[in-house]
Amino acid sequence: MKKAARKKTTRRVEVTETGRTPGDHPWTARVLTLFPEMFPGPLGQSLAGKALEQGKWRLEASDIRSFATDRHRTVDDTPFGGGPGMVMRPDVVDAALAAATRDELKPAIYLTPRGKRVDQALVRDWAAGPGIVLVCGRYEGLDERVIASRGLLEISLGDLVLSGGEPAAIAVIDACVRLLPGVMGAEETLEEESFERGLLEYPHYTRPAEWNGMKVPEVLLSGHHEKIKAWRLAEAEAATKSRRPDLWDAYQRNKTR
Ligand SMILES: C[S@@+](CC[C@H](N)C(=O)[O-])C[C@H]1O[C@@H](n2cnc3c(N)ncnc32)[C@H](O)[C@@H]1O
Repeated sequence: MKKAARKKTTRRVEVTETGRTPGDHPWTARVLTLFPEMFPGPLGQSLAGKALEQGKWRLEASDIRSFATDRHRTVDDTPFGGGPGMVMRPDVVDAALAAATRDELKPAIYLTPRGKRVDQALVRDWAAGPGIVLVCGRYEGLDERVIASRGLLEISLGDLVLSGGEPAAIAVIDACVRLLPGVMGAEETLEEESFERGLLEYPHYTRPAEWNGMKVPEVLLSGHHEKIKAWRLAEAEAATKSRRPDLWDAYQRNKTR
């Protein structure tokens, strides 16, 4: 039953047609996955979902299994050298990548805990380009040779192990999409956000001014913009210093340059 359902999966699952004229390419996320039905998932909701609907970006989820050539549509095999788990075959992933990079969409990224940790600077670069190709691993991951021969950029979501690359792909795409022109309402909210200045963001407060015996800091009610700005910077610096010494050191170094 499961197999019959799988056979119906088309070679390249176009999640969204943008309705744009040919030659007009919106920012594109092309995802290679064994679970194309996981997309758009959360990316079809809220800001990203609305922007997808409006054609401000494009999402294509491609089923890696459709590039398998044997009768059983095998995508994995046992690891040479022994050990637990299965490894995704290089020939199958390579064929999927050949199709996904046909129009030179760059960069081609393999999501893996062994990769460089993703950060806002990388996301900014990717959002400024034409789009990204993301390969989602499953099992023990990809055969090393396809990573090397395709020159995949290895990127990690952080020091944790997911069961597959799909949640990482969704996180990376979401972070890129909100930076695309016209996706976020107020551009200035981006500027003061965590990491944009090398700092974590200051804390936020809203109504009621007193809640559960806790008052909003007086300065925020003063209407004095310069004082509020200074308070927020001081709070952002204090949070960064205590929570992220790595960011704080980099911020200090940049300040003295
Ligand atoms: C169970 S994991 C494989 C973990 C791998 N054996 C290791 O120890 O490095 C399966 C897939 O999930 C994805 N994945 C897991 N953790 C990730 C992370 N922190 N960042 C990005 N992708 C991750 C990768 O695509 C990986 O190939």
